[in-house]
Amino acid sequence: MVIKRIEKLGEKAIQTDFAKDVIRHIKKNKIFNIVSREIERIKTKKLMEDIKKNKIPNHIAIIMDGNRRYAMGEGYHPYKGHEVGKDKLEEVIEWCQELGIKVLTVFAFSTDNFKRSKKEVNHLMEMFANDLKKMVDDKRIHENRIRVRVIGKMDLLPDNVKKAAEEVMEKTKNYDRYFFNIAIGYGGREEIVEAIKKIVFDVKKGKIDERSINKKTVSSYLYTSSLPFPDPDLVLRTSGEERISNFLLWQLAYSELYFSDVYWPALKKTDFLMAIQSYQRRKRRYGK
Ligand code: IPE
Ligand code: MG
Repeated sequence: MVIKRIEKLGEKAIQTDFAKDVIRHIKKNKIFNIVSREIERIKTKKLMEDIKKNKIPNHIAIIMDGNRRYAMGEGYHPYKGHEVGKDKLEEVIEWCQELGIKVLTVFAFSTDNFKRSKKEVNHLMEMFANDLKKMVDDKRIHENRIRVRVIGKMDLLPDNVKKAAEEVMEKTKNYDRYFFNIAIGYGGREEIVEAIKKIVFDVKKGKIDERSINKKTVSSYLYTSSLPFPDPDLVLRTSGEERISNFLLWQLAYSELYFSDVYWPALKKTDFLMAIQSYQRRKRRYGK
């Protein structure tokens, strides 16, 4: 009882502006940084060794959440969080390759995100267009033979995003070492509705017999159909929110879910590795 009350007081104290200032100050301290980097390095090494002994997930899906909260916590403009988040994604792609994770699917922008202010939507769309354009000639994409796909309702996206998406998909369509899917203008229910429409169309055309429709048929009409591992083994969501928010509804029927308290731009390698370790432990406990 007393401990609980002290814990609650502590939590409240940490959320005051004064405490936030103190924490920000400590984080800027050189020695603090050196020590925490060293701790992170040792922890990463240990986690890596442990993880490599067990089965690595084939497909990881990530709901990258908390960009604006991160930025505001650091005293930046909220959109700055999207920039730092973008850099984080590049790091995470490298971590996936280091571990041999074949498929990575990230939720970058949902159909619901269109309800945000016009200014923020435009800002994000500009960012997507630029990043997709850069990817077309990114050496890392070609050297590592990464097949890039943009999944979502393409007709909802501005022309420059659509064009850049088509270009990077075309340029990487023959690659098959890694698969990187970026969900933009994506909604899981929308994906299923689209699939139903296409199935009905093909039934009407006589291309498929309605009596033969099964789970495999449905999967084959989804955006993830041609992936070697269409269903994620693990779904990671950052920022402490514990919801699926219309992400890969059909595909994650059997996925392990992992929720991390850290904001996406602040995700450390150890946080990422801990998600994988948790997945491996659960698999060992409950089996397939
Ligand atoms: C995730 O971060 C990025 C997008 C959804 C585009 P948010 O922008 O949702 O940031 P928070 O969750 O409000 O902090
Ligand atoms: Mg959010």
